[in-house]
Amino acid sequence: MDQVINTTARREEILKVRGMTKTFGPVVALNNVDLTLRKGDVLGLIGENGSGKSTITSIVAGMQKATKCDGMYYKGEEWKPSSMLDALDCCGKGRGGIGMVVQESGTIPGITVAENIFLGELGQFRLFQMKNGKSFGPVRRKKLFAAADEALKKAGIEHIPAKAPMAALDFQSRKLVEIAKVILKDPDVLIIDETSTALAQDGREILYKIINSFRGTDKAVIFISHDLDEIMDVCDTLTVLRDGNIIRTFERAEYDPDEIRKAMIGREMHGDYYRSDFEPACGEEVALKAEDVCLGESLKHVSLELHRGEILGIGGLAQCGMHELGKVLFGSLAPKSGRVTAGEDREVRSEAVAIKYGMGYVSKDRDVESLNLSASIKDNIAIAGMDKYAVKNFLILDSREKKYVDRQIDELSIKCSGRDQLVQQLSGGNKQKVVFGKWIGCGSEILILDCPTRGVDIGVKQAMYRLMTKLKGEGKAILLISEELPELMGMSDRILIMKDGEVKKQFMRSRELTDADVIGYMI
Ligand SMILES: Nc1ncnc2c1ncn2[C@@H]1O[C@H](COP(=O)(O)OP(=O)(O)O)[C@@H](O)[C@H]1O
Ligand SMILES: [Mg+2]
Repeated sequence: MDQVINTTARREEILKVRGMTKTFGPVVALNNVDLTLRKGDVLGLIGENGSGKSTITSIVAGMQKATKCDGMYYKGEEWKPSSMLDALDCCGKGRGGIGMVVQESGTIPGITVAENIFLGELGQFRLFQMKNGKSFGPVRRKKLFAAADEALKKAGIEHIPAKAPMAALDFQSRKLVEIAKVILKDPDVLIIDETSTALAQDGREILYKIINSFRGTDKAVIFISHDLDEIMDVCDTLTVLRDGNIIRTFERAEYDPDEIRKAMIGREMHGDYYRSDFEPACGEEVALKAEDVCLGESLKHVSLELHRGEILGIGGLAQCGMHELGKVLFGSLAPKSGRVTAGEDREVRSEAVAIKYGMGYVSKDRDVESLNLSASIKDNIAIAGMDKYAVKNFLILDSREKKYVDRQIDELSIKCSGRDQLVQQLSGGNKQKVVFGKWIGCGSEILILDCPTRGVDIGVKQAMYRLMTKLKGEGKAILLISEELPELMGMSDRILIMKDGEVKKQFMRSRELTDADVIGYMI
């Protein structure tokens, strides 16, 4: 132990974050955290979904700003990148900056690999280069492709041709192009956010080679993965985050999977906040059924039955496939094989069919997929319920429409100036209530809720839990996809845990069920 401390003490700091806080409305994503990265180190960040891993690294890499920060220092100097490119460019020094491979895709499909790698910097390949640094004329494609091939080679990626259209590449290759793009800039700190799970073994080998080329040098790596075995293998130091706080840092010699898991969980459960009963209970009747559904790497032979009067929880880590499952069940994504049926064997082949069969869907990406932000509350709620208020299903009477909308505003206590207020002006929680109003108003019998309480405050959360309990009591079938374990355990009659696109384990509602029982099947 002493020896470990001594070796780290010898190593110089390259990056230091002090007292960093980041809030999104009522959500505290980071709570006054300190983080130190040393030269030569490969530091792992681990924690449940939503613990703040992407937030802290994206601030360091210039993607967003902290709400409050006592100081960020890079190589001993104050670090204030204005953008990701600025961070990569080391704030004007040209090289030796901080580069990040993000969790979501960072490439553009409509152009070639080479153009993606040199995006925003194609000027250097134009025919005419002026002394003042300006350039014009057509891009010399041969030169561009040669430079891009060189960049790919530098990252150890030999099998992707620079000329290839980005859209022709599979997910793994697209991720590798992103890595090449970052490596080209010679960053001294490389941040990799949940990338390896998108890679097959050969892709991972390339990534590990790059990471190893940083290990023990003057540079450093921050590696984020939800695969505990992988992260212990790859990283020399491991920092655990929970609910925006840094809980503990482990040196390699202290690694113990049980201790690390314990640090990740161990959160208080609030009894009366969720359902107060501990008996699983639901109707006999199957409301929605998935049979052997497959969708590439995301879903592998998933089968499930959701009953009337049941809250079925689906849990897992970020890329376990649960969000895709929600989309397949609602007909927004077509499975490669297998089928989804509602009620008496009615196949759900599209969203339109799903809505016809009485289904509603609350998307995780509320602002983009569930709402029209620039429209009014009235228009957002009324859109799905026409057959409830229009006369003979086509004649829309203004007064009936208004009454229909006002009832939802009232029942859900949506805080607004009135039905004509634009949705974009509402807080996150009230926006989410509008989405609920849209589906509940039209009498949906089957609700698919993907992270319904994401980014909403405690009060609204509670209101939603009460609403779910009420709907369950009315015999509605609810599928609750959630990244928050306490919520899943607090609300579900039954929980299915997914990992790597497969359903790994089923838990029935029980007073004895603990976080620790469940989390082992997620990681
Ligand atoms: N743009 C955003 N708007 C609202 N909330 C956000 C946003 N980005 C992150 N959050 C919230 O901040 C918390 C931390 O998120 P994140 O850093 O992405 O977690 P992790 O990467 O550990 O899964 C979560 O509660 C998440 O919902
Ligand atoms: Mg993340």
